[in-house]
Amino acid sequence: MPDTLARFLRDLDAEIRDRQDWGQVADYIPELARIDPAQFGIAVALPGNRIVTAGQAEKRFSIQSVSKVFSLACVLGRIGEQIWTRVGREPSGRRFDSILSLEEDGGRPRNPFINAGALVTTDELVTGRAPKEALAEILAFLRIAAEDEEIHIDRAVARSETETGYRNVALANYLKSFGNLRNAPEITLGTYFHQCAIEMSCVQLARAGRVIAGLSCAPQMLTPLKARRINALMMMCGHYDGSGDFAFRVGLPAKSGVGGGILLVAPGRASVAIWSPGLNGYGNSQMGSYAAERLARETGWSVFG
Ligand code: DON
Repeated sequence: MPDTLARFLRDLDAEIRDRQDWGQVADYIPELARIDPAQFGIAVALPGNRIVTAGQAEKRFSIQSVSKVFSLACVLGRIGEQIWTRVGREPSGRRFDSILSLEEDGGRPRNPFINAGALVTTDELVTGRAPKEALAEILAFLRIAAEDEEIHIDRAVARSETETGYRNVALANYLKSFGNLRNAPEITLGTYFHQCAIEMSCVQLARAGRVIAGLSCAPQMLTPLKARRINALMMMCGHYDGSGDFAFRVGLPAKSGVGGGILLVAPGRASVAIWSPGLNGYGNSQMGSYAAERLARETGWSVFG
């Protein structure tokens, strides 16, 4: 399997490298707007601590919304089921930064992966302590899960989003007006922007994702029930209003980020990280989505049997 997979990934990398339709980098965060979209990397973590890679699998990128999977895992560990009084578990069918359903739903975001929902989870993590302690918990989770201490925050990206993140400022203030933000908006926002600015390589992210995939070689950090539930949310909400199409094409739980990363989970079988910074119209990695579809077809991995 690893040999066949390595060959497949090498060919996929070569094929993608020849393509022209990379999509557009996220331009609303100036630090991300400077990145060349024509880049691609993939890492597949398999049981038995094996890892197969192709392309720029060691290059670090801004994990952005992929961090929401891990902040949710931390919150579930901290307060468990109580989080669901503040945030829902339904697909939003709207853009990741939409404010519309927040009004309709009386300030309770539809799910923890849209920006409004992630602000609520991060707000919970920062309650009763300093932002740097909440960030230390998320970083510690990632470092233990990946068994790699070299996972850090890119301060320039955090600063860039702090300076220009007007929509998130609006969302945080709107949540506050509904009484669904415990901390001052700037405290929660600052923590959230730094969490999104964590940088990791595909190899590091695939290794961290082993705990979500429930691989037996992974550090035991989540109960099987928690992992199953996080996977369900990734499947239904991980690609925002593109989640249905992604499930249709790929058939596996996944979470995207505007840095171009995708964490893809084949429960019990593999944890996959893909990176290509050009995005499609939903704000999800264009070549990353294509690679996920090709990989799922090649391996037959699917949660639908
Ligand atoms: O809050 C934002 O807009 C970004 N820090 C993260 C958004 C994101 O990654 C959406 N994913 N595709």
